Amino acid sequence: MGWENQPLNEAPLITTETAEGICRLGMNRPEKKNALSAIMYAQLAEGLKHADQDPAVRVILIHGTPECFTAGNDLKDFRDSPPTEGNSTVFQFLETISTAVKPIAAAVNGPAIGIGTSMLLHCDLVYAGENSTFQLPFVNLGLCPEAGSSYLLPLFLGHQRAAELLLLGKPFSAAKAFELGLVNQVIPDGDALPAALEVCREVAALPPAALRETKQLIKQHTAPVVADAMRHEGQAFLNRLKSPEAQEAFAAFFERRPPDFSAFQ
Ligand code: COA
Repeated sequence: MGWENQPLNEAPLITTETAEGICRLGMNRPEKKNALSAIMYAQLAEGLKHADQDPAVRVILIHGTPECFTAGNDLKDFRDSPPTEGNSTVFQFLETISTAVKPIAAAVNGPAIGIGTSMLLHCDLVYAGENSTFQLPFVNLGLCPEAGSSYLLPLFLGHQRAAELLLLGKPFSAAKAFELGLVNQVIPDGDALPAALEVCREVAALPPAALRETKQLIKQHTAPVVADAMRHEGQAFLNRLKSPEAQEAFAAFFERRPPDFSAFQ
């Protein structure tokens, strides 16, 4: 699946723009809170791969729209046409972002939910607006962690703090994300994207081969474990998507009611 599947007369769901050595990849589906559909993952993966290989690009910047980073995976997709195999576009995106050789920055505004938070674990520099909120509601949706978060979060935060985020799945603020070390800086509302762009300009002026080498060295010990964790999580996630617990959670979201898990064992 690729860019060609999108009708030409519609605004792109993923915007790409390269200037000054910075490739900007924007999630652009504001009416659905930038929820990521299968085609959007394919376009993000393609955009990332292209930027990672393009000699004109020194740094990649991922962002959403002014009100929202992303509400995570499209729950309609999860309900009606869930990924069924390990090479689905969501997994292609995760593999691409976790193995990119060039620095990746992110500018977050508003909600960053599910993969909206877990993709940040694969970014190198994260700038978050004061209004941004983060959440890993996998258990709440009858699902389980993805994107290597079951390994990376305990590694970054320690077991208890990671378990709190992953088991309870509650939203947390930009200030909390900063305290946990998940974002580099909290920026006044409206300024996260310009602030991230400013840092990207600094990065783009640095020697590119040294940047790549340094990123590779930083990640060399965790990379194989992350890949392994993502494989295990992916299989568990595909199974959880079919579970009655997940079906109840998806139905509840679209019926705008609280889920009822009382009948499950
Ligand atoms: N998948 C599909 N559609 C989504 C979505 C998602 N993850 N998140 C939001 N939407 C849709 C809503 O269904 C709604 O569509 P509609 O206008 O056709 O009814 C639209 O986006 C606006 O969402 P709404 O819930 O009305 O906005 P809000 O400002 O009240 O709340 C969120 C915003 C992001 C907090 C809320 O939408 C939310 O919790 N979304 C689900 C997050 C989630 O669980 N993601 C999956 C993680 S694995």
